[in-house]
Amino acid sequence: MSKISGYHHLTLCTHGVQEDYEFYTKTLGLYSIKRTVLFDGVLPVYHLYYGSPTGEASTIITTFPFAKPGVFGRRGSNQSKVVMQAIPVGASDFWVNRLNEMGVTAHKATRFGADRVIFAHPCGIPHELVENPSDTRPPIANPDQGVSAEHGIKGIYGGAVSVMDRTAMDDFLTVALPMTKVADNHEGMVFAVPSNNGATSMVEVLHEPDVAQGTWTLAGGTIHHLALNTGDEDNQMSLRAHIEGLGFTDISEQKDRMYFKSCYVRSPGGALFELAWTVPEGWAKDEPADAIGKTLVFPPWFADRQAEMEAGLEPAEF
Ligand SMILES: [Fe+2]
Repeated sequence: MSKISGYHHLTLCTHGVQEDYEFYTKTLGLYSIKRTVLFDGVLPVYHLYYGSPTGEASTIITTFPFAKPGVFGRRGSNQSKVVMQAIPVGASDFWVNRLNEMGVTAHKATRFGADRVIFAHPCGIPHELVENPSDTRPPIANPDQGVSAEHGIKGIYGGAVSVMDRTAMDDFLTVALPMTKVADNHEGMVFAVPSNNGATSMVEVLHEPDVAQGTWTLAGGTIHHLALNTGDEDNQMSLRAHIEGLGFTDISEQKDRMYFKSCYVRSPGGALFELAWTVPEGWAKDEPADAIGKTLVFPPWFADRQAEMEAGLEPAEF
């Protein structure tokens, strides 16, 4: 049993709340699985979670729509660059047609031998739907949005990370994290994330030494971090100790994210990684299990700020 099994979630800083919600729930056919607020700092900002109907780890995309605070980031190197989600083999044509019909420019391409659909979130963050023949997860069907089980997104395929220095990132992913390098060529490198359940996923490292460095702050238009699933606290803590012992002291203490617990580590390639595991109650901690993602919920420690935060959030219809 590896200390990591696939991804837990990917987190982006986007722009408008409404366009973000409609992009994931309507255009891509994911489900809202939690609607809460940013736990860090003082700004009233939504934290929106999307994924399979039950919110299984490895399907989760989370966003901080940042139009209201009006903080904009710069996409660049030494930063996560592309959100990649897996689709069934042969589903690319469906998605190219669907996206273009819905006003999202999309085309097919191949990288590292994997066929994929290339498009972008309304805020500009690159997205890809990658055909993955070895992914055993069931596609996420959403009949209300015209997405059948034949074509649905299966969950996270991975993040593509832009780096100036290939070697430092290679060491981090294989020595600090238990990943396996499966490709190394002129396009960059691919690392397989260990999996206990057949949800094969990757980190793609794109060597872009001439691209200016992207921002690391929470700022619209950028990917903030890639979260890996440790399954439980023991794996999280032993992996955290291993990473710290190597000298990567830029790793956070465990943070309580209500539905999961997280440690964050800055990789030498610049991208922020997270080690996360879902607490036993999961998404049902503050909503009925069969109605997650339907209401706006606040963690107990924001009880005295709830009215002020609600008043400060960007207006949107869900
Ligand atoms: Fe996270």
